[in-house]
Amino acid sequence: ERLPELLRAMPKAELHMHIEGSLEPELIFAMSQRNGVAIPYASVEELRQAYAFTNLQSFLDIYYAGASVLITQQDFHDMAWAYLQKAKADNVVHAELFFDPQTHTARGVAMQVVIEGLHSACVRAGTELGVDASLILCFLRHLSEEDAFATLEQALPFRDKFIGVGLDSSEVGHPPEKFARVFARCRELGLHLVAHAGEEGPPEYVWTALDLLKVERVDHGVQSSKDPQLMQRLARDRIPLTVCPLSNLKLCVFPSLDQHNIRALLDAGLVVTVNSDDPAYFGGYVNDNFLQTFAATGLTAAQAYTLAANSFEASFADAGQKKRWR
Ligand code: HPA
Ligand code: ZN
Repeated sequence: ERLPELLRAMPKAELHMHIEGSLEPELIFAMSQRNGVAIPYASVEELRQAYAFTNLQSFLDIYYAGASVLITQQDFHDMAWAYLQKAKADNVVHAELFFDPQTHTARGVAMQVVIEGLHSACVRAGTELGVDASLILCFLRHLSEEDAFATLEQALPFRDKFIGVGLDSSEVGHPPEKFARVFARCRELGLHLVAHAGEEGPPEYVWTALDLLKVERVDHGVQSSKDPQLMQRLARDRIPLTVCPLSNLKLCVFPSLDQHNIRALLDAGLVVTVNSDDPAYFGGYVNDNFLQTFAATGLTAAQAYTLAANSFEASFADAGQKKRWR
């Protein structure tokens, strides 16, 4: 089969993955034992069986429970290193990893442990795998503005170890404007800005992410297709959408993969990219997302090329690197 082989072999950038969402059940159990942190599942199989989600919140509850086994700098390094080896196998040459520091600092894990553990794996990926990897700090939107500001303050001593900030967790009821002042501060600091918007939430949240937070990319953004004016804005300004098809399937954003709107987004001229979101929870890494989406929707080799080119254009790599990729 030529198309699956092309999808696997083509160099690509991954721009939307949560590193805590790459923790495989086996690693959760190993860390639970080595750190003496109990988890409410008796076996790897029982944990995997709990991965039956009905919406975003039903996933987040299990995702935060899984992340509770991460304690030491070695744990954070091991988690990111495991992902980066999978990325290499999928011919990912550039990866931007989201991390959720508040999930860890709230349990008493120091910001330094989180950032230095993850960052050392990114450096190692550059030298040992030839994968260019960097970090994006995400604020949890179900927590307060005050908590986000405190998190930013704790992270600033490590400003050189992350390239931007994002916004994730429970979307509906936590609109972007809640974090307008935090993002304004991050913008002054020269950080790149992204936000989850239009995953489950309305197109209005995509508008406010753009106009109030001034994000450079929209994570998910699939609900934008409900608003023709928003579609025009995204196309005109070449605002990338980091789409995650298997995530959308597992969180019931679309009833089946063949009903995903990725083709409509591409046909409207949007800068769409394909990503894995939380690969350990949603049934696959980035190449699984490409292969299953192409099989279900009938996208073509030309569209595969467009998606790969989009991933490089949408990345925060420097201009020199982007030129070499073209
Ligand atoms: N949406 C919001 N928050 C998240 C997600 C997601 O898909 N994955 C991990 N945190
Ligand atoms: Zn996400």
